[in-house]
Amino acid sequence: MRDEVAGAYACGMRISRRASTLGLLAAACAGGSSKPEPEVTARNDAPKPTRPHVLVVGGTGMLRRVSMKLAARGHATSVIARTKTDLADMAAANPMIKPVPVDYGDGPALEAALRTTIAAHGPLALVVAWIHDSAPEAPLAIARIAAEGVEWLRYVHVLSSTVDDPSAPPSDRRQAFEAVDGVRYEEIVLGFVVGGETSRWLTDTEISEGVLRAIDRPKPRTVVGTTSPWSARPK
Ligand SMILES: NC(=O)c1ccc[n+]([C@@H]2O[C@H](COP(=O)([O-])OP(=O)(O)OC[C@H]3O[C@@H](n4cnc5c(N)ncnc54)[C@H](OP(=O)(O)O)[C@@H]3O)[C@@H](O)[C@H]2O)c1
Repeated sequence: MRDEVAGAYACGMRISRRASTLGLLAAACAGGSSKPEPEVTARNDAPKPTRPHVLVVGGTGMLRRVSMKLAARGHATSVIARTKTDLADMAAANPMIKPVPVDYGDGPALEAALRTTIAAHGPLALVVAWIHDSAPEAPLAIARIAAEGVEWLRYVHVLSSTVDDPSAPPSDRRQAFEAVDGVRYEEIVLGFVVGGETSRWLTDTEISEGVLRAIDRPKPRTVVGTTSPWSARPK
């Protein structure tokens, strides 16, 4: 284990003993390819998770591929969304997907749902969060609950390009997350693609692939596509 921890520090990460023991971040430093991925099928005799519990908030939409990939790697993968049928379809495709049907705008319901899935599948080592501005309290609330009682929690916050608007006031977002005991905060900004005289938004595949790359190569900040020059942003 010591070698894994040393390797993780060498790639710039501070990690929990629990996460390193179970391979989450050591695999990340190696680009996620150091261990063969377990074969997972949709049989009733569901295989047991081989890696720590992770959570994808908003994981049935453009991050669906991220949820499915983490599940295929052997993580018990809790997924938050409101539409039960979407969650059930994903769980049917891979029983390592653990549906958490809740509206993240409903604080008490969100807290109860998080505590239930943590009790069922163990403490969280990684949260990937894509949360609409309609629920401004949810991102930090999830970090606080997920970090309770753990040494380290990776919190990967997926953000829209508006955070890089040069006219936006400075944000204390990072400080707020880093003030939560144990949270290692990383942000992923979803930008756009410039080609010649035109530009376009990212596709769902580009977004998921970019998020997976950032999960496997931890950095404090990743931009998928670009947010510069801001004037080239698609209208
Ligand atoms: N920079 C870029 O290029 C960029 C950035 C952002 C988005 N986009 C594009 O825009 C499209 C639409 O984006 P989107 O924001 O609608 O994201 P989305 O990821 O397609 O859908 C939102 C996800 O969050 C869940 N969700 C939404 N509200 C929720 C709530 N109150 N409680 C719990 N879960 C909730 C949704 O499930 P439920 O609805 O079932 O709850 C779904 O899983 C995407 O397809 C993407 O390609 C592009």
